[in-house]
Amino acid sequence: MRILFIGDVFAAPGLRAARSYLRREGSAYDLRIVNGENATGGFGLARKHYQQLRDAGADVVTLGNHTFDQKETAGLLEESPRLIRALNYPPGTPGLGATTVDLPDGTRVTVAQVLGRLFMEAMDDPFRALDDLLDEVNGAHPVIIDLHAEATSEKKVLGWHVAGRAAAALGTHTHVQTADEQILDGTAYLTDVGMTGVQTSSIGMAFEEVHHRFTKKTPMRYKPARGVATVCGAAIAIEGTRATAIERIRWTEPHEGTGEEEDA
Ligand SMILES: [Fe+2]
Repeated sequence: MRILFIGDVFAAPGLRAARSYLRREGSAYDLRIVNGENATGGFGLARKHYQQLRDAGADVVTLGNHTFDQKETAGLLEESPRLIRALNYPPGTPGLGATTVDLPDGTRVTVAQVLGRLFMEAMDDPFRALDDLLDEVNGAHPVIIDLHAEATSEKKVLGWHVAGRAAAALGTHTHVQTADEQILDGTAYLTDVGMTGVQTSSIGMAFEEVHHRFTKKTPMRYKPARGVATVCGAAIAIEGTRATAIERIRWTEPHEGTGEEEDA
């Protein structure tokens, strides 16, 4: 089984590149997962952008700390079992923290996400949330986990915590791809798969406004960077419930696009 995981899609350039890559390469995979939590101008995921990713071939879309930035996302989560937010939100939060997909060949895959707690908002315990999920699946089929966290140390320990129990634990959120892919007791691990968007930017935003805020200490609204976007992600090979290979993906779109894709 081959799994494609595309990292944090950022604003219109990221959406354009992610959709293009899914259309070009998506059919080489059995399951396509996309982190879409920054797709709408950098903040959350509007319904139309979720639909664009699904129409391009994404089977499951994950969110993150920006899950509820767009007011329509709570309703969208309730309607869409293929869109997931983190498992470790408090009980009663709209939507699912994990979803199970039945593939055409009869095999199943569960995709889940947890949010880290270091340098992020306080959340329920991600370790315990993953234990509950993995106990429930009980090795019946592969589990792919999106580790949406800021701190490398926390991601590394979360990866080790699920090693031998999950098929993959892939980091998101920091937007810079790391080069530490490895297989840990049958679990494919990468600290961060990287951002799908304009790499010459401050993690997706244009430099100018971010620079202003750092140097002048007065408010200025961020603007998503424009230009050529790169898809960052990972390809995972799985046999049974264990990963046998992980490869990083970095693919830069051949053109900057038509300019018709503007952020709302
Ligand atoms: Fe994030």
